Order: sequence, then C-alpha cells, then structure tokens
Amino acid sequence: MDKNISPIAEAMRRYSKDGALAFHTPGHKQGLGGHPLLKELITSEGLRREVSLMEELDDLHDPQTCIKEAQEMAAELWGADKSFFMVNGTTSAVQAMILSTLNPGDLVLVSRNAHRCVMSGLILSGARPIYLMPEVDLHFGISLNLTVETVRNAIDKYPQARALIIISPNYYGVAADLSAIAKLLHDRGMMLLVDEAHGAHLHFSDELPISAIDAGADLAAQSTHKLLGSLTQTSMLMVKSNLVDIERLKRTVSLLQSTSPNYLLLASLDIARLQMQEAGQELIKRAVQLSNRLRNAIRQIDGLQTFSNVNGFDLDLTKVTINVSELGMTGMEAEKILRYQYKIQCELSDVNNLLFLITFADIDDKIDRLIVTLQALSSSRRQIEIDLKPSLVRPIPNSVLKLTPREAFYSLNSTVDIDDAVNRICAEEVTFYPPGIPILQPGELITADIIDYIKSNKNIGRRLIGAADTSLNTIRILKSLSRRDS
Ligand SMILES: Cc1ncc(COP(=O)(O)O)c(C=O)c1O
Repeated sequence: MDKNISPIAEAMRRYSKDGALAFHTPGHKQGLGGHPLLKELITSEGLRREVSLMEELDDLHDPQTCIKEAQEMAAELWGADKSFFMVNGTTSAVQAMILSTLNPGDLVLVSRNAHRCVMSGLILSGARPIYLMPEVDLHFGISLNLTVETVRNAIDKYPQARALIIISPNYYGVAADLSAIAKLLHDRGMMLLVDEAHGAHLHFSDELPISAIDAGADLAAQSTHKLLGSLTQTSMLMVKSNLVDIERLKRTVSLLQSTSPNYLLLASLDIARLQMQEAGQELIKRAVQLSNRLRNAIRQIDGLQTFSNVNGFDLDLTKVTINVSELGMTGMEAEKILRYQYKIQCELSDVNNLLFLITFADIDDKIDRLIVTLQALSSSRRQIEIDLKPSLVRPIPNSVLKLTPREAFYSLNSTVDIDDAVNRICAEEVTFYPPGIPILQPGELITADIIDYIKSNKNIGRRLIGAADTSLNTIRILKSLSRRDS
C-alpha cells in the first residue's frame, strides 16, 4: 500500500475523470444542477467528484478497495488493529462503542462528565450506567477527570460491570491516567471505552498525554474533525482489543451509518490521515510551541489566569483555558467582547473561562493578535466584583440515578412547572452547550440543588439544549414508573 496517497480521493478523481454519463445520485449530477449558492460553497471540481455507490468508490458498509485501504492505513498510523470511518460525527462513534460492547441490562461504569452522546448510546443500548464523579477544580470551575482511585473503588464495588466509558482528554484537555486504568480494568476482564473526541492529535506528540489506544484502551472514538484536518462531522473509531467482538462492532458501525455516506466527508478523513502521515509530529509540535508561547504571555497579563499542569492529571497543552473572573466579567461576557469588538472567536466560554484551541493551522501572527487583544481585555477590567455562587461554578451538580436512561426515555411523561419538579424523575435531557455535559439525564432525580444550579446558569446567559422547553420554565418528568417499552 502506498501510504503517501489518499486512496479515497484518488478513486473519486478517477471516476470523475472517466466521464461516465450520470444517471445516478446525487441529484445535482456532479454539480450540473447545483444552485449557485451550492457552487459558492463547493468548487465545481468538488461537486463533480461528489458521487457515491460506484463500483470503483467501494462501499463503507463492506469495504473492499479504497475505503478498506484508507481505513487500514489510518489504523496502522494510530497504532490500532482496525479503524472505522464515521460520517455522523463522534456521536455515532461513541454510540457504536456502546452498542457493540454492551447488552441491555449490562452494568457499565460511566464518567459523569460524559458528553450527551454517551447518554444517547445508553438509551439505545439499554445498558445500566453507574456514574462516577470526576474530580473538579472549583477555582476554574471545570471538571478534571476520573482518578485511578475512583475507578479502582468502582471496580471493587461493581465487579460485574462490563466496561468503563470515560472521556479523555476532556474539553479542557485534562486527561486521565488511561494506562493505569486500562490495566485495572483488563485485570478484571472489563473493557476501556474512551471518548477521545478531543484527542485525535495526541498520538503524534511526546509532549502531550498518551493516546487512548497507545495506553491500552479497547476502543477510542476520535473527532478527526475537531483538532485535525477533516471536515466537520467526520470521525474515526479505533479498536485494539481481544475483548471486543469485531464482527459485532462492524455490524453496529454499519447500523449507525448512512447508506449514502458523503464522499467529500470520507475523502477528508483519508486526507487528514495522509496529512498526519506526511508531517504529523512536526505539525503537532508547532501547535504545542504556539500554545506554550500563548500561555507564557497570558501569565504576564493582569487579571488573567491559565494553567499548564493539573495536579494528578496529564494536560493536553494545545488547549488554553483562561480564567477571566478577576476582570469582573463572566467567560460568556468576555467571549462576546472578543467576538464583537475584536473579531476573535474562542472555542467556548463558561462561567469563569474562555477556552482557545491551538492547532497546527495556527501561526505566530494569529497568536500575537490574540495576545494584544487579551491585553486590551484586561485593561477593560470592570470595577465590580462578580458574585459567583459556589453552586454556579461547579461544573456538574451531584445527581442520583433512579431509572436507566432507556427506561426513563420510554416511560410516560408529563410537563410541569420547574418549581414543581423537585423530587420527581427527569424524563428529558438538560444540557448547557458547550460543553455538552448533561446536567440532568432521563432517569435522574430532580433536586432543589439542581434546579438552583440550572436557574443560576441560565440567568448568566448559558445556552440550554436537549429539553423540550429550552427556557426551562417547565420540564418533562416521569408520570409514573409504568413503561411503554423496555
Ligand atoms: C467529549 C465529546 N464527545 C463527543 C462529542 C460529539 O462529537 P460530534 O460533534 O463529532 O458528534 C463531542 C462534541 O463536542 C464532545 O465534546
């Protein structure tokens, strides 16, 4: 196999060059019928090559030629046994991890700061989660990760659990000790399933936390689109395991994917692999250098705080978190100032912080502009102390699970005023996005503390998703425990 080409992009090029008269999908017929607005978005060459289901383009559901080659090269590059190209985001990669390894009723340990896609996987699979609380940093107001100790205790308490689902690194780059955790789990025959949405680049640097597969994870779901160079919505699922049933994994991946995968998306995954093959180490090294330079500059700016290590955890240095609370503003307010006064957009803001992602696409000039802007932000410091209740700064409140997410999802439910929901069981998801960690999930007890948390966060302008009423004046609760389905 020639690793210096992109087999999918090459197959697309060959098909379009061949010039076969098109009586097939997609309806725009290789751009001929494309609306001018579509042509503005995608070049005519891109549209000419955007076809699918031709013999020479292989089949994502039974890869034999170019997709097979591309997936094999990606697996080899990331040190996995196999890789699967996913065109419905890391959401579907995480769902595939869960559905392929857990049966209805199986007990699974789950880090409570998991992204909402884990909850969707639990609803689909019917597995019973045991939530493990990650460590938190109350100064920055972010969740860190699970300690080895927390995992060890959970394994001792729930020896029948089949697996652990963990997000590592998390959005802020904080990584768990996956090598130690993998060993603990494997000694008991349990699987390690890692949501590595924020870690597709780790494998290419010794300065960053070890990647999930290198650390011994059985499955790792990576958002290639988040920190590497593929198009949004594209991800890879990596497997290296003698505990995972590969045939079942293949079937599950196929169940969850479109039968008409877009080839621009698939080719972009293959090309992202090629880019890392050609210069991965050099590119990620540059990103680390730039982020270190940015961090050092932030340390000199009055009123801003950042971190380059986290007690007890590894950190992905390419994530730069800046605490702006000393400036008398919330992270959300600082984000708006940067966006609308200085035309700088961060990845996310939360109560205290702004998060900037530095990737190989960044250059010194961009970092310089960001530094100058942060200096200006610092001099616009407000003379007010903002009073952030400690309850507000907690990244996730404590929750109590009464029913599995699937049982709750399929139960009869009704809508009540939020203030009448105390001590009822939640029937829907309540999530602030970003970072997309559910505050309440179907099946969890609604407490006065959680309602207070939701209201305070809403009042400072955080965006809610998941709930039927996103203003959350009302909330859906379980009517009774009688189920419509199981
Ligand atoms: C930790 C984590 N997992 C999974 C996802 C879902 O990824 P995608 O948006 O590619 O479906 C995200 C998205 O932000 C995420 O942050």
